Amino acid sequence: MSASSSHPVAPAWLTVPDDANALAAAVWPASAHRDDDGQLIVGGVAAGRLRERFGTPLYVLDEDEVRTRARRTVTAFAAATSAHGIRSRIYYAGKAFLSAEVVRWVTEEGLAVDVCSQGELELALAAGADPARIGFHGNNKSVAELERAVDVGVGTIIVDSLIELERLAAVAARRGAVQPVLLRVNSGVHAETHDFLATAHEDQKFGFALDDAPAAVARIRGLDTLGFVGLHCHIGSQIFGVAGFAESAARLVDLHARLLEGGPIPLLNLGGGFGIAYTSVDDPTPIEQLAAGIVDAVAQECAVRGIPVPDLAFEPGRAIVGTAGITLYEVGTTKPVRLPGAQRLYVSVDGGMSDNARPALYGAEFSARIASRTSTAEPALVRVVGKHCESGDIVVDHEYLPGDVAPGDLLAVPATGAYCFSLASNYNYLPRPAVVAVRDGSARVIVRGETIADLLHRDAGIAAEGNA
Ligand SMILES: Cc1ncc(COP(=O)(O)O)c(C=O)c1O
Repeated sequence: MSASSSHPVAPAWLTVPDDANALAAAVWPASAHRDDDGQLIVGGVAAGRLRERFGTPLYVLDEDEVRTRARRTVTAFAAATSAHGIRSRIYYAGKAFLSAEVVRWVTEEGLAVDVCSQGELELALAAGADPARIGFHGNNKSVAELERAVDVGVGTIIVDSLIELERLAAVAARRGAVQPVLLRVNSGVHAETHDFLATAHEDQKFGFALDDAPAAVARIRGLDTLGFVGLHCHIGSQIFGVAGFAESAARLVDLHARLLEGGPIPLLNLGGGFGIAYTSVDDPTPIEQLAAGIVDAVAQECAVRGIPVPDLAFEPGRAIVGTAGITLYEVGTTKPVRLPGAQRLYVSVDGGMSDNARPALYGAEFSARIASRTSTAEPALVRVVGKHCESGDIVVDHEYLPGDVAPGDLLAVPATGAYCFSLASNYNYLPRPAVVAVRDGSARVIVRGETIADLLHRDAGIAAEGNA
């Protein structure tokens, strides 16, 4: 990217690119490149071929990218923890993207699975995940969900409140089980805002305040039906450095050390949240560096207190699947919009906030490239928007694309592997797109796309087979 000056209405971080066809390496799967005709190739499959076979919008997942990232994460934490004579367990945070194939890929690469509803649990089980290697999260698990988790032998349930603690103890008692649990605590570290200052009681719904945790742990330890495995904390998502994790680990180890007076604690789970690149200016910390930094920080905190280092668990989601996914759209219309002293080209695609809610939900930034061709046209500042009846229906808020971007062009938005498919909706009765896995030049559907008939079928007022 050149350092040339920005457009009057572009954000400061977005500079005019030398080449608006270039694929910034950190944002795309490693397999992404352009062929001699300028067409985007992912997992050995041409974007145009994907459009012909499966239509658009389409979620495309590069299997090798998922597997490589999963393996790298397991290896990085294994190396970092074995240096301190302990072990690590990596849970894949299924909320990022859950399908049977993805569960198989990550479990084959050595990951355990973390779920946070009965639906996610059933999917993981149906995909063949070992229940003993499943962690079950959630701040309001129902009795039915807890019963199912205990019945199938879920490895750890992460307890989020006193009410849930008693609810789970009663379920385990009825089932004659002893359920291993972690206690979710709120370390007071706000990673998203880089505000590492302690606030005794964070104003959010998850977990126990640090001060309230000892009483909860004492209660767990006093029950025959629950087994206390350790503390859990998740400080947030899309975190680039070690500092937030290290600060949180320090507070957790302090509590862990005090709780050791009541008995051994084998594990400490520090959650997920490792960041990925969404735009060319994002510079995520390599997983090896993150793993070493976080594990060394925990070991140091333990050494200061003269306590053994517990085994460590982590729960990355985005860092495993985020960069592996791209979304393909077809451009339907373009419209130049005049602004004071500037112009922005609106590029409307055939999906939008129903397949990618993140820009509307959190103001998330993405990037885009024309996938069906390259162009020598001058870069134009564009906003890629969807087809929904919301002006906030933005897919890519700020991007430079070749100025001749036109109806019929295939547009690829990279880094959509996490929290896009899983947050998808049917807003405006748009069917949710299929997910296609690509690998070694072949493509296959791993989640079928919805049809309008699927949507109508749910409406009990429409006469259809199976409707009441
Ligand atoms: C408890 C917990 N663990 C793990 C994750 C995964 O986070 P990420 O996908 O950012 O790694 C989340 C995300 O919300 C979470 O709430």
